[in-house]
Amino acid sequence: MKSTNITWHNSKVTKEDRQQQKNHKSPVLWFTGLSGSGKSTLSVEVEKALYEEGVHAYRLDGDNVRHGLNKNLGFSPEDRTENIRRIGEVSKLMNDAGLVTLTAFISPYREDRDNVRDLFEDGEFIEVYAKCSLEEAEKRDPKGLYKKARSGEIKGFTGIDAPYEEPADAEIVVETDKYSLEESVELIINYLKTNNHI
Ligand code: PPS
Repeated sequence: MKSTNITWHNSKVTKEDRQQQKNHKSPVLWFTGLSGSGKSTLSVEVEKALYEEGVHAYRLDGDNVRHGLNKNLGFSPEDRTENIRRIGEVSKLMNDAGLVTLTAFISPYREDRDNVRDLFEDGEFIEVYAKCSLEEAEKRDPKGLYKKARSGEIKGFTGIDAPYEEPADAEIVVETDKYSLEESVELIINYLKTNNHI
């Protein structure tokens, strides 16, 4: 059902006012990649590095958000699309609030990620591909989920019997099976500095 009879109310404080007060821009770093690719680990470290630089940042993580806001969603293609749509909208609110947002969701469908990209102004959506082979992710298997997927205990697991569509033009590609965590964090922080986000 769609909302009707609704009107947009403008604030007297703009996104630009908030960014000026905080002294940095408010892009979204959209981490995408297979389960076990290192999205969460990376985003946690980048958030910490940003905090230490005095940047107001906030992280949204798939597992965490599915405990609350998105606890009514599963892993069917439709639910994953709705998951990403909602997170896109939350990220947009944070962008308006002047925060740097870090999202760590598998976000397996290119179209869903591109729909989120379209919510933002040019340059504000920074796709970060945590690139890692399925073999390596499966070897890491930090939560034992690949094992369960292989045995058929979990159905529709990304990379096993559900798709992952690799980004075609990610702003940042982090090969998490090649770079150290420190190198990867530095790469991302440097990107933000070089592009005058922070
Ligand atoms: S998605 O595809 O973007 O909607 O997924 P996301 O919200 O990021 O949630 C991924 C985490 O959920 C756990 N999990 C699964 N992942 C993939 N496929 C299936 N079927 C599944 N079931 C549970 C898993 O812990 C994922 O966490 P990460 O951090 O990616 O390993």
